[in-house]
Amino acid sequence: MILQKNFAAILAASITASGAASAADAGRKLDLANDKAYEHVIVPIFAATCTSCHGAEKAKGKFRLHTPEEITKSETVVGGKPGESTVIERIFLPGEDEDVMPPEGKKQLTEDQKKLIRWWVAEGASFDKKISELNVPADIKPILTSYVYAPPKVVVIKKAFDLPEPAAAADAAAVGAVAKAGVLIMPLAQDTKYLSANAINVAKSFNDAQVKLFVPLSEQLTWLDVSRSGISDASAADIGKLTKLTKLHLENTAVTDATLAQLGGLQNLEYLNLYGTKVTDAGLAHLKGLKKLKKLYVWQTGVTEAGAKQLQATLPEVEVNLGWKAPPEAKK
Ligand code: HEC
Repeated sequence: MILQKNFAAILAASITASGAASAADAGRKLDLANDKAYEHVIVPIFAATCTSCHGAEKAKGKFRLHTPEEITKSETVVGGKPGESTVIERIFLPGEDEDVMPPEGKKQLTEDQKKLIRWWVAEGASFDKKISELNVPADIKPILTSYVYAPPKVVVIKKAFDLPEPAAAADAAAVGAVAKAGVLIMPLAQDTKYLSANAINVAKSFNDAQVKLFVPLSEQLTWLDVSRSGISDASAADIGKLTKLTKLHLENTAVTDATLAQLGGLQNLEYLNLYGTKVTDAGLAHLKGLKKLKKLYVWQTGVTEAGAKQLQATLPEVEVNLGWKAPPEAKK
């Protein structure tokens, strides 16, 4: 549940209304064995045609369709029952009907897109199943085969950082390798080469070996979330190479002070979440050189108030959250 919440929060923060292809992954055939029905088929369709009105910024009809949570809450989709789902009812209305969605004059769904949405709903409207885990009827198969997946455009709601643009775009093969591992990787915003990567979808299987996939992206990767994954101190050296990171989520992993000892090179880091790890005051001492650090979450760790104060003596701007305020996973 928490996993899904965080995932939803991330999507909420990153997906905007328009579905044009973005630079890192501008259109590719679906991988019918590994791609997911919701993430790879439905999200791009909703993002291109629905979420400008039912999304992060607007809630026409008083509901939103841009995250799994909001879709569930909206009750417009009833898994397994397209006949009871108002989304299906509305999109299949004749074009001239005044209730048709999207409304007349707005970017319309193609017949294939309508069929794909109905298929997804009929198959249970799952948010995490792979296409290959669902029944694919004969009339849907050719649509999926020719479907071009392009990740939805992303938008940065709040200005994230002021780093100069990377000299070069990320190596497409390296991005592909990360995506293939199940990590959600996308541009941080429309006009930047910076990337964000989030392993929350595959946290259970994500481990130290896969962290190496990020190293070739060290010039572009600026947000990294490997929280709740199987990584350990064995990843510390690799994470330490990701010098453009501004935001790093390590909460609820097995990392210890030994990892903190190797993060000294992350000179751009502004946000570090260590909630629920075994770090202590001794580990925090290694962070003293991180001049840009502003937020540090050490709730449910070995860090004490005295340790936090010591760090603040060197880094007066850092806000250390020991848990008595907002819970650390409350991301905006
Ligand atoms: C231009 C804005 C706009 C776009 C784009 C749009 N909608 Fe809507 N939608 C509305 C408005 C306004 C309402 C409320 C009035 C109404 O019910 O017709 C609404 C209502 C709905 C309802 C009825 C909800 C209920 O509880 O009865 C559904 C379902 C719906 N939209 C689905 C969609 C889907 C799916 C898409 C994309 C394929 C979409 N909409 C695109 C503006 C939009």
